[in-house]
Amino acid sequence: MADQFHRLLLAAIIFFGLLLSFCHGGVTSSFVRKLEKTIDMPLDADVFRVPHGYNAPQQVHITQGNMDGSAVIVSWVTPGRAGSNMVLYGTSEDNLKFQAKGKLTQYKYYTYKSGFIHHCTLRNLKFATKYYYKLGIGNTTRQFWFTTPPEVGPDVPYTFGLIGDLGQSYDSNSTLSHYELNPIKGEAVLFVGDLSYADNYPNHDNVRWDTWGRFVERSVAYQPWIWTAGNHEIDFAPEIGETKPFKPFSHRYTVPYKASGSTAPFWYSIKRASAHVIVLSSYSAYGKYTPQYKWLEEEFPKVNRSETPWLIVLMHSPWYNSYNYHYMEGESMRVMYEPWFVQNKVDVVFAGHVHAYERTHRISNIAYNIINGDCMPVDDPSAPVYITIGDGGNLEGLATNMTRSNAAPKTVFQLTGRPYSFGHAIFSLSRTLTHAYYACPSTGTKTAMQSGCYRFYVVL
Ligand SMILES: *[C@@H]1O[C@H](CO)[C@@H](O)[C@H](O)[C@H]1NC(C)=O
Ligand SMILES: *[C@@H]1O[C@H](CO)[C@@H](O)[C@H](O)[C@H]1NC(C)=O
Ligand SMILES: *[C@@H]1O[C@H](CO)[C@@H](O)[C@H](O)[C@H]1NC(C)=O
Ligand SMILES: *[C@@H]1O[C@H](CO)[C@@H](O)[C@H](O)[C@H]1NC(C)=O
Ligand SMILES: [Fe+2]
Repeated sequence: MADQFHRLLLAAIIFFGLLLSFCHGGVTSSFVRKLEKTIDMPLDADVFRVPHGYNAPQQVHITQGNMDGSAVIVSWVTPGRAGSNMVLYGTSEDNLKFQAKGKLTQYKYYTYKSGFIHHCTLRNLKFATKYYYKLGIGNTTRQFWFTTPPEVGPDVPYTFGLIGDLGQSYDSNSTLSHYELNPIKGEAVLFVGDLSYADNYPNHDNVRWDTWGRFVERSVAYQPWIWTAGNHEIDFAPEIGETKPFKPFSHRYTVPYKASGSTAPFWYSIKRASAHVIVLSSYSAYGKYTPQYKWLEEEFPKVNRSETPWLIVLMHSPWYNSYNYHYMEGESMRVMYEPWFVQNKVDVVFAGHVHAYERTHRISNIAYNIINGDCMPVDDPSAPVYITIGDGGNLEGLATNMTRSNAAPKTVFQLTGRPYSFGHAIFSLSRTLTHAYYACPSTGTKTAMQSGCYRFYVVL
C-alpha cells in the first residue's frame, strides 16, 4: 500500500551533468572529450595546496554520523603533530558554543606514514539547520559549515549528488567543479566507490590519498559524502607486505556502520530525508552465511516505506553492465541478492566501476533455475532501475566499447554513439514536483521507470 502510494506520488529526477556543458533540460553540449587516458594533476597543482599555517587541519571531510542524520562525523588530518582533537561548533558563525572531542588514528603503509587522522562525531544536531564548525588551534584554525538534513519522513524532498570513480585527474577536477556549479544543488553526495586511485602509483603511494583529501575538501567539508568501498580502496599489496584490505581507506573514511547493526564499515545503511540508503561492498564476502549476507537479510525488514518511501542501494560493481569493461564482474553478487531486491522493491541501484553512464529499465533476472533456460532480464515493475555512474574522471579513461549485454535490450540509455564524457548526476527526491526544470506533466508519458511520475532527465 505504502509502496504503491510512493510510486505514484514521488518523483525521481536524474540530471546527468557533463563536463564543460552547463545543462539545462534538453540542451545538448557540443563538447566531445578526447578518448585517450587523462592525466593526474601534478603534486604542485593548486587543488592540492596545503592550507596556510603550521600544522593546519587539512583534508577536512564530513559524512553522516548516525542513522537519521542528526549526527555528523567530521574528519581531518594534521600533518606534523596531533594538535587539537576538538571540534568547536554552533549555529551562529561567531558563537561556536558546543564542542566535541574526536579520536585519533595513524597508520603506516610500506614506507609511508600518515599524518594524524582525526574523526569526531557531532551528535544531537537539530535537523535542517546550518552549523559552523572550527578545527585547529591557535593561529591555525579553519572554519567550515554544513547543513543537517530535514528530519526523516515521507514528504521530505531532498537532492543527492552522485559521483563515482573520481580520482584526481584534470577531468576529476572538472567533474567536481561541474557538480559544484550545477544549478540544482546537491545537498549530499552518494559516492559509489573508487576515491583516490593512489594504488595506481608505485607502492600505492599514499601521498596520493592525501592529495585527494585536499582536492575534494572544497565540497566534502561542507556536505556529507556517503562512502561506498570500491576496488581501488582495497590496497592489497602483499609484494610490499600490505595484506590488510582497505587499510588506508578505513583509517581515513569513517562511516556510521554500527548504527545500522553492521559489523564492518563496508556495508551499512542510513536514512536521509525520504530515503533509506543501503551501502553494500562488492569486495567483501557476500555469500550465504557471511556477515554481509546476514546483515542484509536482517536489514530489509527494517526498511519502513511509510517513513522512507525511497529505497536506494549503492555498490561499486554494477550488476547490469553492457560495456566490455568489468563485464559480468557483478554477476555473482547479483545472483546472490537480486531476489531480495525485487521482493523488497528497491527503487534504484547506483554503481560505479565502469567508467561510463548506463541506465536500465526496471528489470530483473531471477527466474533461472539451471534447467528452465529463463536467463534473460525481463521487465519487472517490482525491480529496481540500475544506474552506472562511474565516469567521475580518473586517469584510466572512459569505457566506450560495448559487448554483449546482460541488460540489453533493457538498457535505455548509454553514452555510446554520443559524445563520451565524464560527469556526475543529480538525484532529486521530490513529492511536489515543483521544480521548474522538472515539472512532471500530468499527461506525460510514463518513463522507463514505469510508475507514475518518475522522470529521468538525461541531458547531453
Ligand atoms: C599568531 O599570529 C600573531 C599575529 O599574526 C603572531 O604575532 C603570533 O606570533 C602568532 N603565533 C604563533 C604561535 O604562530
Ligand atoms: C580545478 O578547478 C578549480 C575550480 O574550477 C580551478 O580553480 C583550479 O584551477 C583547477 N585546478 C586544476 C589543476 O585544473
Ligand atoms: C513506520 O513509519 C511510520 C511513519 O513514520 C510510523 O508511524 C510507524 O510506526 C513505523 N512503523 C514501524 C514498524 O516502525
Ligand atoms: C571492443 O569489445 C569487443 C568485444 O569484447 C572486442 O572484441 C574488441 O577488441 C574491443 N575493441 C576495443 C577497441 O577495445
Ligand atoms: Fe572500480
